[in-house]
Amino acid sequence: MFASNLFEGQRVLITGGGTGIGASIGRRLVSLGARLIVCGRREAVLAEFAASVEGDVTTYVCDIRDPEAVDGMLTSIWETGPLDALVNNAAASFIARTEQLSARAADAILGVTMHGAMYCTLGVGRRWIEAGRGGTVLSILSTSIRTGRAFTVPSAMAKSAVQAMTRSLAVEWGPHGIRLVGIAPGPFPTAGAGAGLDPTGSRATARLNPLGRVGDHDELASLAAYLLSRHAGYINGEVIAIDGGQHLRTSGAEDLLQWTEAQWQAAATRRGRRA
Ligand SMILES: NC(=O)c1ccc[n+]([C@@H]2O[C@H](COP(=O)([O-])OP(=O)(O)OC[C@H]3O[C@@H](n4cnc5c(N)ncnc54)[C@H](OP(=O)(O)O)[C@@H]3O)[C@@H](O)[C@H]2O)c1
Repeated sequence: MFASNLFEGQRVLITGGGTGIGASIGRRLVSLGARLIVCGRREAVLAEFAASVEGDVTTYVCDIRDPEAVDGMLTSIWETGPLDALVNNAAASFIARTEQLSARAADAILGVTMHGAMYCTLGVGRRWIEAGRGGTVLSILSTSIRTGRAFTVPSAMAKSAVQAMTRSLAVEWGPHGIRLVGIAPGPFPTAGAGAGLDPTGSRATARLNPLGRVGDHDELASLAAYLLSRHAGYINGEVIAIDGGQHLRTSGAEDLLQWTEAQWQAAATRRGRRA
């Protein structure tokens, strides 16, 4: 579908790119010639990912909730050349009854999903503007930006905030040659989506999906490659859902309204916390 040199020599940073959806996007970009940089908090996970990819992969241990750590990572990256694209992919979420969330738990989710994406975007955009060069920021959002989502409220809030950033900066930074785009995935099997969001394994999303299945990582990687490529050069400020049409039928959380106290307790125990 894509020329094998589509991203030849381009440098792309994917936050949280050592696992799940970020890793799938990264693998695809490397296969199309990109020089990939991934960051995350767990060095061993990043090293294992880099070793599994045939191509140019650099890793950074960086907690994107920390603006100084993000700035340090970007300064180090820029020492060997500018980035061509940023993928805001790192995020965190788990299901909980919102009135029982501690401020600390809410902040942990907002911190990585909203603040982290903002620190990375501002740091990269500032450097592009100072150098008079363009670039692309792709943010991995969620269909909660269209439906809201009960029981993962801080995540839904953060994703909508990042959509607001995408739309706002598409206008503000468009004149600098910087495009901002987003993908709103539906259910794609990953460790993150399984452990925190479907802890009992009872929420068979495929049953709720008009196409009767979860997403294939290759499908999402293809969309990401397209949006990051020159072929999408006139798409700016747009977020594309890839969910088999599921958000048109359900926000994906209604079943939790029927959960019993015992189910909430079991989910919290699996997470190692009180519900
Ligand atoms: N899978 C789905 O069904 C689905 C649906 C809708 C949206 N999404 C979105 O897709 C993206 C990827 O999710 P996923 O399912 O692939 O989950 P995942 O495998 O858990 O990926 C999350 C990644 O973010 C990194 N991360 C978390 N906190 C971080 C921090 N403070 N600083 C730096 N990196 C951090 C994690 O690495 P460390 O823990 O090592 O830091 C991990 O590599 C997320 O934005 C998610 O909201 C996924």
